Amino acid sequence: MRMQLWGLLFLVLTNIVHGEEVAGSTAPTKPNIIFILADDLGFNDVGFHGSAQIPTPNIDALAYSGIILNRYYVNPICTPSRSALMTGKYPIHTGMQHTVLYAAEPRGLPLKEKILPQYLNDLGYASHIAGKWHLGHWKLEYTPLYRGFRSHVGFWSGHHDYNDHTAFEHNLWGLDMRNGADVAYDLHGKYTTDVITEHSVKVIASHNATEGPLFLYVAHAACHSSNPYNPLPVPDEDVMKMGHILHYKRRKYAAMVSKMDESVGQIVDQLRKSNLLENSIIIFSSDNGGPAQGFNLNFASNYPLKGVKNTLWEGGVRAAGLIWSPLLKKRERVADQTMHISDWLPTLLEAAGGPSALANLSQGLDGQSIWQALTHDEASPRRTVLHNIDDIWGSAAVTVGDWKVVKGTNYKGGWDGWYGPAGERNPHAYDWQLVAKSPAGKALVALKMLPSQADQQRLREAATVVCQGQSSQGSSCKATAFSAPCLFHIRDDPCEQFNLAEQYPEVLRDLMAELARFNSTVVPPSNKPADPRADPRYWNFTWTNFGDSFHYDKEPIIGDLSLVLKN
Ligand SMILES: *[C@@H]1O[C@H](CO)[C@@H](O)[C@H](O)[C@H]1NC(C)=O
Ligand SMILES: *[C@@H]1O[C@H](CO)[C@@H](O)[C@H](O)[C@H]1NC(C)=O
Ligand SMILES: *[C@@H]1O[C@H](CO)[C@@H](O)[C@H](O)[C@H]1NC(C)=O
Ligand SMILES: *[C@@H]1O[C@H](CO)[C@@H](O)[C@H](O)[C@H]1NC(C)=O
Repeated sequence: MRMQLWGLLFLVLTNIVHGEEVAGSTAPTKPNIIFILADDLGFNDVGFHGSAQIPTPNIDALAYSGIILNRYYVNPICTPSRSALMTGKYPIHTGMQHTVLYAAEPRGLPLKEKILPQYLNDLGYASHIAGKWHLGHWKLEYTPLYRGFRSHVGFWSGHHDYNDHTAFEHNLWGLDMRNGADVAYDLHGKYTTDVITEHSVKVIASHNATEGPLFLYVAHAACHSSNPYNPLPVPDEDVMKMGHILHYKRRKYAAMVSKMDESVGQIVDQLRKSNLLENSIIIFSSDNGGPAQGFNLNFASNYPLKGVKNTLWEGGVRAAGLIWSPLLKKRERVADQTMHISDWLPTLLEAAGGPSALANLSQGLDGQSIWQALTHDEASPRRTVLHNIDDIWGSAAVTVGDWKVVKGTNYKGGWDGWYGPAGERNPHAYDWQLVAKSPAGKALVALKMLPSQADQQRLREAATVVCQGQSSQGSSCKATAFSAPCLFHIRDDPCEQFNLAEQYPEVLRDLMAELARFNSTVVPPSNKPADPRADPRYWNFTWTNFGDSFHYDKEPIIGDLSLVLKN
């Protein structure tokens, strides 16, 4: 009797201690959010989609132990995609739908838009950004530190050289690297991917969890091409590691991807060291489809998807993406849930603050929270994805359910084909050991979260897109600005080979009606001609916030500005 009593007391006591421990360490803490955005990475440039050509073991480790987003859509090009990520709105609703923001343009993502870090800060987050912004800098108020981020080491424009950090655009040339609002002259010569990694690791290492959760936006320059005189800058030693790739420019591109994969590993490793990993959500995503076979002087691959970056074909808008977190109840799977990049804002808000956090969202959001659908593997609330409407180029596309309509095309149809390389697709060529041995893999093994090799193999196979060889129906699509729209059954025909517009006129009519509905809500594109004040020669050869304090009596450092001023 006495023994039993003591036993009971012991049980009660240990439960209290255990309960307190649980409450103290995990109860009200919101998850840290690490959003890693690759630039111009192709669908086929990660190992988990079936090609073994470019080793990406760190990214793959996260993919296999998290959720591979296999029906994940982005906008076809940088600025529009980033604007959708930050606002939760389609670019047609913020004026950001037409091409990119050029460094000399006096415009930016409208200041009336409340953006992701600002929403998260309301919930107690500390937000930081490392890397590329590309949403406006002509006035300081458009730049990251004025829009919710506490720190920024990176650049304001769309691309730059990875070593000297200069950006060449429209015959203008200037330095674009910042530490906060200051020009980072001191970072000259440091490889951009390393600069971004170092800042990310520093933010994680110095994060004080008692002051709230962390939101870190890692916006890599990789694998965007650089200036025309040296489009693919990457250290020689990394190029040599990719010696199995015969095409030299593809080899350099692969080295840039590999450097970025190592960065992902270092970030995961630091999260582990800082004891933040177990309570983190990590997202890895490309901003748009890959520029293949010389597009933008680059050599990505979206194989077997059609088209490239800045086209509305699947190769332009269906992106490599994953979400990883111990908070996801149904992990280790390939998600069929349709998702658009604008969904991250409400999705992450719900992950951070529960359903009530969504009550605070601004009106007119296009994004939908798919947090519940992802965590419990339920049907996605998203059925329709507007890929874009660009009346300047005369192209538009929308997906509703299993169907997609494409009207018009960009580049006069010049990039409407299928581009390789397919890469090494024999599963035995993929080095499975590399995954577990990578820094991210090791961190996941320590958390007992890395699936068995057999499961990894199964997931990788399920995430590989295979084209239908032939169809009894359909014709090829000749999309021009004036031609009839093309219709695809995108679930059965992910490679957009069979135009079914003639066979399914009523489906076509419904999708065109959907497009017309979106079209009636379009905000005019905000693009502006280059502003002569932006010329870096006025500003010690830097790209800067020229709209804040320009005086026309200012002397350029050198050169004849008449050329610029005439435009
Ligand atoms: C973390 O923040 C808390 C609360 O502001 C403070 O008391 C503590 O000293 C900080 N820890 C470190 C290591 O800075
Ligand atoms: C709504 O936003 C306000 C600040 O604008 C914040 O104080 C509040 O906690 C938010 N509410 C929820 C439920 O997220
Ligand atoms: C959208 O509407 C505008 C103006 O009404 C029209 O010129 C344009 O062709 C429409 N675009 C599409 C894709 O329907
Ligand atoms: C101008 O740029 C050079 C590097 O190109 C730098 O050393 C110098 O400090 C800059 N001058 C000013 C006034 O910022």
